[in-house]
Amino acid sequence: MDQFIRFREDRDRQYDDPDLTPRRASESRTTICVVMEIEHANNAGYVHGGTIMRMVDNAAGIAAARHSRRRVVTAAMDDMSFLSPVYIGDLVTVNAMVNDAHRSSMEVGVRVTVESVPTGERRHVASAHLVYVGLDADGKPAPVPPVVAESDEEKRRQAQARVRREQRLLRKRALQEAATRRPLPTDPPPA
Ligand SMILES: CC(C)(COP(=O)(O)OP(=O)(O)OC[C@H]1O[C@@H](n2cnc3c(N)ncnc32)[C@H](O)[C@@H]1OP(=O)(O)O)[C@@H](O)C(=O)NCCC(=O)NCCS
Repeated sequence: MDQFIRFREDRDRQYDDPDLTPRRASESRTTICVVMEIEHANNAGYVHGGTIMRMVDNAAGIAAARHSRRRVVTAAMDDMSFLSPVYIGDLVTVNAMVNDAHRSSMEVGVRVTVESVPTGERRHVASAHLVYVGLDADGKPAPVPPVVAESDEEKRRQAQARVRREQRLLRKRALQEAATRRPLPTDPPPA
């Protein structure tokens, strides 16, 4: 136990002073591959959506930690649609990469594909965008390195991530305003 506590303390000290020089988006690239087994199935016999969401969060969290070299928390996940069912025996691959970073937050793009092992047929199952926040040793939001987008694809993803960030901030502000707004005389009576 003492050894574990010392290990944690040594590692926490390493989080105190991460390198904040801009980092290439591709350095955060993360891939997780898992064959779906009985334990991943729901009552209908398909793979549970939550299993895929957990893999998405795992892969995206690793990409964010690789980019920031910090401890990270999931702050948000954008809409995620399942485009195709996943069956037991399928090989699920989750690819994740940091699209963009701001002061302490990072957007990670994730794509999930499924491969049928006997036929090699591949299907796109889902895509998602998640926001992670880098934390300092006290668990407070802390600066993360900017993202260097090199390829045309990375530049497109970075530009689109900036649009999504603006939309998230607008939505958050609007919801906060709605929560504190007093009813107007023209508002319909409460149901
Ligand atoms: C995410 C969290 C650290 C943000 O803390 P906060 O006090 O709101 O911090 P701030 O207002 O300073 O925001 C910090 C950054 O997070 C971003 N952020 C906060 N909430 C967000 C949200 N819902 N969606 C997207 N980004 C968000 C802010 O835009 C800001 O980004 P920037 O520094 O790059 O400009 C805090 O809400 C938290 O700890 N949430 C719980 C996270 C968690 O436990 N996740 C696992 C769930 S099981």
